Amino acid sequence: MANLNKSGYHGLEEKLCYDRWHDKKEILTENALIIEGHPVMERWETPYMKIFASVVTRNGGRILECGFGMGISAYAIQSYCPTEHVIIEFNDDVFKRLMLFKHKAQNKVTPILGLAYETVLSLEPKSFDGIFYDTYPLNAEEQHTHQFY
Ligand SMILES: C[S@@+](CC[C@H](N)C(=O)[O-])C[C@H]1O[C@@H](n2cnc3c(N)ncnc32)[C@H](O)[C@@H]1O
Repeated sequence: MANLNKSGYHGLEEKLCYDRWHDKKEILTENALIIEGHPVMERWETPYMKIFASVVTRNGGRILECGFGMGISAYAIQSYCPTEHVIIEFNDDVFKRLMLFKHKAQNKVTPILGLAYETVLSLEPKSFDGIFYDTYPLNAEEQHTHQFY
């Protein structure tokens, strides 16, 4: 796998590196999205992304998704025809692909560039029918509060 020098969540910086993540160039292959040497998303995860999509759209309506990645879950969510699909993404390169996704999508997509946990504060409380949170920890501290290993 190209430029992959960290596996799982190993090798995360101890402290905050938010700005760096924002600017970092992505390496996107058919099978993986790599940022800063981290395997942020991999194609083999498709089957369970599809299951998450079916669960998060169970009530129909307005869906919030945090972390666009390879867009695998986003495409799956679109197949359930949400009335609005709000997607928050923090990396610039990934966000550019999210904008392309928006223009091709069959249902309304609202991309937001920012950190999920900051951006949600500006969204209307209780306005979503389903929320799918799938970010990647940006430092070792976050790994233990947002993701578990
Ligand atoms: C695991 S991937 C998402 C995979 C996606 N579910 C898919 O099916 O392709 C995580 C994404 O979240 C983004 N991300 C990481 N931390 C974030 C944060 N705090 N707020 C918003 N996006 C974040 C990363 O840049 C990356 O694009």
